[in-house]
Amino acid sequence: MQIITTKEELQRVTDACKGEGKTIGLVPTMGALHEGHASLVRRAVSENDICVVSVFVNPTQFNNKEDLVLYPRNLQRDAELLESIGAHYVFAPTPEEMYSAEEMNETFEFDFNGLDKVMEGKMRPGHFNGVVQVVSRLFYLVRPDRAYFGEKDFQQLAIIRFMVERSALAGTFGKLQIIGCPIVREASGLALSSRNERLSAEEKNTAVAISRTLKDSLDWAKTESVKEVEKRVADTINSVEGLETEYYEIVDKTTLLPTDTFANAIGCVTVYCGKVRLIDNIQY
Ligand code: PAF
Repeated sequence: MQIITTKEELQRVTDACKGEGKTIGLVPTMGALHEGHASLVRRAVSENDICVVSVFVNPTQFNNKEDLVLYPRNLQRDAELLESIGAHYVFAPTPEEMYSAEEMNETFEFDFNGLDKVMEGKMRPGHFNGVVQVVSRLFYLVRPDRAYFGEKDFQQLAIIRFMVERSALAGTFGKLQIIGCPIVREASGLALSSRNERLSAEEKNTAVAISRTLKDSLDWAKTESVKEVEKRVADTINSVEGLETEYYEIVDKTTLLPTDTFANAIGCVTVYCGKVRLIDNIQY
């Protein structure tokens, strides 16, 4: 496995792979890798000749600067994990390598047909513009055949699919397939997240109530309305000391707009566990 730190070297390597007719799978990450990321990488390794994993804490998608500073980083541990599961290249640039000074400060405005105006987009203004800024740059540099994203960040996945399928960039990425992969959970049910590293052992136990409540809501949905289930989920989570729901919204999986039926619906939650912001979701 080779660690690449410059855009130029990355392009040289991926050009050579393409020249040899090899397929490339890309797994974009911000590092602090866990079993959820590993599941994406294993799939990319099994479905492509070459697997490229990017490890880059993208400053332009953080609207909260404290979150950016506190985001866990450990390239050496990440590289060991990636090597052990068969990744071929790790792309780990500095922010200065990735962006010019103007790009770092410029406000990018993409049109996502409203997908970015709800839930995470509403709570974290500019977040998805930053995500798309970095992901589209990675697509240009790597020109992958397939790119892999976790369903835990369901809204991010929907927005990236939209960008690739329907935006002005559609022709640019050729036959690129966006592949969504299921949430990986601890035995307790807690969704794996790099942010879990910031939870104390006690907070980790407390946070289990999030996935447990989402799971219980599948039963509640059999007899209660969407609005009732939304309220019951938020109330149940908030009744646990140390947890505070920022939003729980049941939306249509395709449009991400509020829905009053459970058909094609997903419930997305964001909860503060102490100072750590956790997200999870459940499909009805
Ligand atoms: O999901 C993430 O880790 C990030 O948003 C991504 C897709 C790697 C872009 O920085």
